[in-house]
Amino acid sequence: MGLQDEVQKRKTFAIISHPDAGKTTMTEKLLLFGNLIRSAGTVKGKKSGKFATSDWMEIEKQRGISVTSSVMNFDYMGHKVNILDTPGHEDFSEDTYRTLTAVDSVVMIIDATKGIEAQTIKLFKVCKMRGIPIFTFINKLDREGREPLDLLDQIEEVLNIETYPINWPVGMGKRFLGILDRYHDQFIKYNGNEEESYIPMSEIDHDEVSQQPTFQETVEELELLDEAGDQFSLDRVLEGEQTPVFFGSALAPFGVQSFFDTFIKMAPAPGPRRTTEEVISPDYPDFSGFIFKIQANMNPQHRDRIAFLRVCSGKFERGMNVKLARTGKTIRLGQTQQFVASSRDTVEEAFAGEIIGVYDPGSYRIGDTLVDGKQTFEYDELPQFPPEMFQRVTAKNVMKAKQFRKGIEQLVQEGAIQLFRGYPTDSMIIGAVGQLQYEVFQHRMKNEYNVEVLLESIGDRIPRWLKKEQVDPKLFDERNLLVKDRDGEFLVLFKNDFALRWFIDKHPEVDLIDLFEVN
Ligand code: G4P
Repeated sequence: MGLQDEVQKRKTFAIISHPDAGKTTMTEKLLLFGNLIRSAGTVKGKKSGKFATSDWMEIEKQRGISVTSSVMNFDYMGHKVNILDTPGHEDFSEDTYRTLTAVDSVVMIIDATKGIEAQTIKLFKVCKMRGIPIFTFINKLDREGREPLDLLDQIEEVLNIETYPINWPVGMGKRFLGILDRYHDQFIKYNGNEEESYIPMSEIDHDEVSQQPTFQETVEELELLDEAGDQFSLDRVLEGEQTPVFFGSALAPFGVQSFFDTFIKMAPAPGPRRTTEEVISPDYPDFSGFIFKIQANMNPQHRDRIAFLRVCSGKFERGMNVKLARTGKTIRLGQTQQFVASSRDTVEEAFAGEIIGVYDPGSYRIGDTLVDGKQTFEYDELPQFPPEMFQRVTAKNVMKAKQFRKGIEQLVQEGAIQLFRGYPTDSMIIGAVGQLQYEVFQHRMKNEYNVEVLLESIGDRIPRWLKKEQVDPKLFDERNLLVKDRDGEFLVLFKNDFALRWFIDKHPEVDLIDLFEVN
């Protein structure tokens, strides 16, 4: 099979959601389709006592080491599916954002009873910033939820993206009858605990469901939507401007099969990516890829590290020699792993779109490009994701200043945590997007650099970057703290939303830059 055919078969995506919206339940159903697991309840560890596949690193966490997202892959309908986990809850970290740089599309799960929630917004913004196509699954239709039109309005308003409902629910909760599949012109009937059934719309009059008032009302509602709503455009979907919306229930499961079958057809295969030299297409003959995550201490006995590499072009073969573009050093990729279910299998070959784990002797940094030896390009740097929580950090024992600096320097380089320097005080402030990052930081400083660190929280903050020429230290104080980032750029850590708005009112002349701003 040619390179082009291999690439076209691959679908690499992440599922994003707010905790409890149903990401694990959905993942589990998809793994069932892929025959990766045999029974429901295998993924979710809470009740069964087994560990979740998508949470398999929970095991490592229990041994007191760092946790980050994992990858699952399986074959489905002639496609090679790669699902990247985006940890939520207390596992939320910068890695969750970075994972989104390694996917080609995203499935956003929204709980119909709650609508859009905070963590969904954050993850969505990263997708929008990067133009990643987003497919929406509105979950928990078996419960009494918000009106479908309300939910679509909310997505359009809060997330600023056009919606196109691929299907439309008929009733909800106890009155839930099924979904009208506009795209395939059929009705998918909800049969409670029984399997769903498919009825072509041309034959719907023969089914008693068509006589129910709720059904008739919904057909009318859909006619209005056909006239007033946006037209479906796959091009706009692929540009990240429109999101196809599917309704269903991950738990039932209901509408999951038709969602996934449609998604797999619409979702993009790996595309070209920008580098320092030229745009590299996934069927470019030479191997290349970039590291988007480094997992330290997966095995406490060995203290080894695994770097997660997204293959972007060519063919990876185990044992091949590649070049680390940043240093020009040649590295043999001998120990490589692919993450299937809860095991780690050795990977022999891989193509664009796939994620492999490569053994890291300590040479890699987040964002590093690995490339065929004769090439010189590097993939675009991974963006800096604005942290939200900040702590002042010092060494408990002042005699350990040297190890303290070394540890921080390396962990920052690795991307475990972000470092800011107070201005003009030069105090050290570390920023994170999730609490887990601090725990990992403290743990690793102690275990790898033998330094106990003291953390003093300065709370959740709102970071806004400044233009150099507009920096006036007199305008800022402890409340709205002026600091410098890793590139020497100035930013202000605003105490809260009120302080930010007060400042904007008072100093309209100062431009405040929000790295998460999407238009
Ligand atoms: P998450 O990974 O996004 O955090 O969500 P998860 O799948 O764990 O789902 C959160 C809760 O919502 C679970 O219930 C799950 O069973 C339920 N759920 C998921 N999809 C649906 C659905 O379509 N309909 C309904 N009614 N519930 C759904 P839990 O009681 O918190 O967990 P468990 O103890 O049942 O495992």
